[in-house]
Amino acid sequence: MRKSSRIVADTLQKLVRLIEPGLSTLELDRFAEAYIVRRGGKPAFKGYRGYPYTLCVSVNEQVVHAFPSGRRLEDGDIVSLDLGVVVDGYYGDAAITVPVGKVSEEARRLIAATRAALSQAILAARPGNHLSDISHAVQSAIETQGFSVVRLFVGHGIGRSLHEEPQIPNFGPPAQGPVLKPGLVLAIEPMANAGGADVMILDDRWTAVTRDRSLSAHFEHTVALTEDGVQVLTSVAGDESSEEAKH
Ligand code: MF3
Ligand code: CO
Repeated sequence: MRKSSRIVADTLQKLVRLIEPGLSTLELDRFAEAYIVRRGGKPAFKGYRGYPYTLCVSVNEQVVHAFPSGRRLEDGDIVSLDLGVVVDGYYGDAAITVPVGKVSEEARRLIAATRAALSQAILAARPGNHLSDISHAVQSAIETQGFSVVRLFVGHGIGRSLHEEPQIPNFGPPAQGPVLKPGLVLAIEPMANAGGADVMILDDRWTAVTRDRSLSAHFEHTVALTEDGVQVLTSVAGDESSEEAKH
């Protein structure tokens, strides 16, 4: 999982550097697939339940699972990139939301709140804590900033499959559910909307959008719980959101 997660992190970092107005979301997908294969990994989403691409590229009111396409990014968009990689049968999974050019104040705040929610959730993912402490940390961080938590999708265990038990809701009371133990590896993935929490799935059967068409952001890390604390397997050196979680 270290190997696959490292490729996920490095690919996302490269993609972020490519993002600019005029780039199509399919160009991001093509770059990602070629880079992953060159690094000795395999895209994990492609073929998963029939998903046809390497990346999910969700723009603005798209929450998650949007198909890469000829759509070109525009100044003021926010774009969520979600990526899974498998190496030797072991999975890594991460997501990030980034601004394209100059974005609104609300978009900046939504991105910051969702990233902070992931950081807080990682801090809560300590052996001895309960599973729902993670959920509660996400919900608190997002709702105190005036945004809403998407309830239709959850984080998950990860390992020899992309999705393993347990499911990790992004909301709930603290101190419920199983006690976290060293050895668990989790994909924690808060999704937050600027408006209401409701989402709907489009006719392509994949793309999730906010029902009120407000902006949505998504951050995800694959994290390993160890005797010595939490390791963020998909962190990129120098990225503060993951640095924070190491302390
Ligand atoms: N990060 C998402 C998840 O863990 C992405 C899944 S996309 C799919 O569920 F194509 F693989 F379904
Ligand atoms: Co995931």
